Amino acid sequence: MSGFPAVRLRRLRRSEPLRALVREVQLTPADFIYPLFVTHGSGVRNPIGSMPGVFQLSVDQARREAAELGAYGIRAVLLFGLPAAKDERGSEAYHPDGIVQQAIRALKDAAPELVVMTDVCLCEYTSHGHCGVVEQGRVLNDPTLELLGEMALSHARAGADVVAPSDMMDGRVGAIRRVLDEQGFADTAIMAYSAKFASGFYGPFREAADSAPQFGDRRAYQMDPPNAREAMRELELDVAEGADLIMVKPALAYLDLVRRARERFDLPQVAYNVRGEYAMVKAAAQLGWIDERRIALEILTGIKRAGADLIITYHAKDACRWLEEDFRCRTTTTRAGTFRKTTDRPGNRY
Ligand code: PBG
Ligand code: ZN
Repeated sequence: MSGFPAVRLRRLRRSEPLRALVREVQLTPADFIYPLFVTHGSGVRNPIGSMPGVFQLSVDQARREAAELGAYGIRAVLLFGLPAAKDERGSEAYHPDGIVQQAIRALKDAAPELVVMTDVCLCEYTSHGHCGVVEQGRVLNDPTLELLGEMALSHARAGADVVAPSDMMDGRVGAIRRVLDEQGFADTAIMAYSAKFASGFYGPFREAADSAPQFGDRRAYQMDPPNAREAMRELELDVAEGADLIMVKPALAYLDLVRRARERFDLPQVAYNVRGEYAMVKAAAQLGWIDERRIALEILTGIKRAGADLIITYHAKDACRWLEEDFRCRTTTTRAGTFRKTTDRPGNRY
């Protein structure tokens, strides 16, 4: 009795209500963290060519965006900043009135319940575009830690709930934790970009954040894509140094690591569905080669199924809209109180 014909797995696939009943993973708006790129000025909404639907926003526009995100049920944003000027040491990154610091204060004022996370890295702010202090063409580890500590502290002072170091210097989580604790910010959490790979999938990000390295690349600090065991060591170290949330980035080519990390750690785990992953979906959809809605939801579901608790994604707003449409479609009742027939529109469900 252990196999066919007694066992027929198709029985529970027969109709949408049955499929919905036994569905193992459900996306919700609470799964998403939405990245925002803030820039100086007012009334600015600069579209990013390789990222349809994503804009560089001035602080006033970011406030409006926060209200919209709240309406979608999205609970967290991750802030990136475009400074007014760049220099060798990325001074605006840790200036009390830097663009991100301004945005944190504005968002906390406009939407106190929105969780404000900030990317902590120097590359958007340095003239050379690298993630740390550069000397003789090399990115120095230990001198960078001090600047990252300053940057995280100034974000905490402005009111950030979570600081997220993305630089991949050794020891940065511990260094940031120490500074925050010493300065009275023991409650500010750290989301560590723990296993962050030197990836081609960040290409469009560097357009969005204007942070391309002016010489060389990031392979001397970001991880080598083939290394899974080393990724576990990076995660272990960040946990030991006091990370509150851990991350694997990018997501799609690294889902094995999302799964391995899920099995190994009990911390909340985040996966970053990076820009190149988003751009590929958008481009193929524009060409009419794929169904954007179906593919995006399938990708996000796959990331969650692999073990991510939270997904940083540029699809967040679209995904919330699609999920709500699906939900309305499933739960609308007729006056007789019976469920309306759910028609399977092709391409709408995964
Ligand atoms: C800054 C940073 C990057 C991303 C997040 N933080 C770019 C990089 O490391 O080159 C990538 C985000 C994305 O591609 O969506 N270090
Ligand atoms: Zn960086």
